[in-house]
Amino acid sequence: MIVAIDGPAASGKGTLAKRLAEHLGFHCLDTGLLYRAVARDVAQRGFRLDDLWAAVATARGLDPKELEDPDLRGTAAGDAASIVARIPEVRAALLAYQRDFARRPPGAVLDGRDIGSVVCPAADVKIFVTATPEVRARRRFTEFEARGAGISYETVLADILIRDQRDSGRANAPMVLATDAMLLDTSNLSIEAAFDAAVGLIKRKIGHPGC
Ligand code: CDP
Repeated sequence: MIVAIDGPAASGKGTLAKRLAEHLGFHCLDTGLLYRAVARDVAQRGFRLDDLWAAVATARGLDPKELEDPDLRGTAAGDAASIVARIPEVRAALLAYQRDFARRPPGAVLDGRDIGSVVCPAADVKIFVTATPEVRARRRFTEFEARGAGISYETVLADILIRDQRDSGRANAPMVLATDAMLLDTSNLSIEAAFDAAVGLIKRKIGHPGC
């Protein structure tokens, strides 16, 4: 069984995906980390992020075991990721790994921007998680503050708006609400309430015994 969770930056999709995977006993893949790692490696090798050949070669050689780097979680990494993510050949290079992961038994939860639309169009469950930009910025700001990242709320909000635009506006695999996806607006929901709502949606869709 495949659960596809898509949505914009800081919508809560990552936390939700992890909680659902634990609940269902499934594997979990945060696909954003793949793009973040490609961007990190391109920059570390001294290339520009929009250098097509450097980005594609890096994506093709990416070792998905190297995603545990805490620096990958920062704003700069997210912003850089959205630049390499616009390159169709980079996306193509990361596709097989994501699809293989999705097929791992007994099931997998993948979160990203194009899971329900491109990576796993036949996913059993598709949830598009969203929240207002201000709520998302507030959440991310609180996360960064707890880590002592020294970044203002205004900067976080500006970054979120830029990434929303880049992710929805790109020609290849843009962030979209797949026609058969269920919308979950978490603007007024706690993590717990969002989890309960998602379990309710899954139950309604497939009546999985774990839900
Ligand atoms: O955690 P957050 O939502 O801030 O970002 P992320 O999921 O780690 O994704 C970082 C960036 O990678 C996004 O802004 C997208 O540009 C890109 N991405 C993508 O294009 N496709 C995916 N399936 C996942 C991420």
